[in-house]
Amino acid sequence: MDKIIIKTEEQINGIRKSAQLAGNTLKFISDYIKEGVSTEYLNNKIEEYIRDNKAIPAPLNYNGFPKSCCISLNNVICHGIPSEKEILKEGDILNVDVTTILDGYYGDTSTMFTIGECTDQAFDLIENTEHALYLGIDQVRPGNYFGNIGYNIGRFAKSKGYSVVYDFCGHGVGLEFHEEPQVEHSCPRNTGYKMQPGMIFTIEPMINLGKAKAIIDKNDGWTARTADGSLSAQFEHTILVTESGFEILSDVGEYDIFK
Ligand code: MF3
Ligand code: CO
Ligand code: CO
Repeated sequence: MDKIIIKTEEQINGIRKSAQLAGNTLKFISDYIKEGVSTEYLNNKIEEYIRDNKAIPAPLNYNGFPKSCCISLNNVICHGIPSEKEILKEGDILNVDVTTILDGYYGDTSTMFTIGECTDQAFDLIENTEHALYLGIDQVRPGNYFGNIGYNIGRFAKSKGYSVVYDFCGHGVGLEFHEEPQVEHSCPRNTGYKMQPGMIFTIEPMINLGKAKAIIDKNDGWTARTADGSLSAQFEHTILVTESGFEILSDVGEYDIFK
């Protein structure tokens, strides 16, 4: 427990600014997401926007990650590496995950987008994954168990016949990219640490249409795909525990994710 940082007011304000920038980066890039563009192009636009705002893209060179954001298409669960060879096409679904370092503070958020006509299954997976994130966020308040975030996400996902990825978790965030604790997205009720005001962490469920198992690409060491080739969706926010509940630090309001 003592490894979970309780942020000061000054740190909270800094992390909020960074998380808002990360959210605004997703809003910014939404205008460029369309059929025919490469994920490399989107990566470059994202990097430019972040640097124009006097911040640094956290993924670049993080444990050797080669790009400034993660873009994960279709059966890619997370940590997709943007590439000029990867061109968006009708029917694709993708997650764009942006993490910013602004004045030394980290903000981390991701959203799904769709390209043109997708299957009903794909749309439902996306809507239900976003709903699952908000069911998790609803559990954030002082004194509640971290386990209840994953308990509610997991129960809902399973009720829809989906599976929840267990190889990747949410995480404390703010002074570092990945801090304690790990925030599981499917776990037993009333388990783990208790939340306290001033804790900041991500919730970022990855939900698969098929089985939960993930396989990491042997060549690049990053790209995580569903073992069975099924579609995967993810949404992520940076959340502050307040005296009365939560604040979604990376929330920048509505924008269109269906392209
Ligand atoms: N942004 C991811 C997360 O939500 C982490 C990406 S690590 C990277 O935790 F190196 F792939 F960028
Ligand atoms: Co994260
Ligand atoms: Co992220």
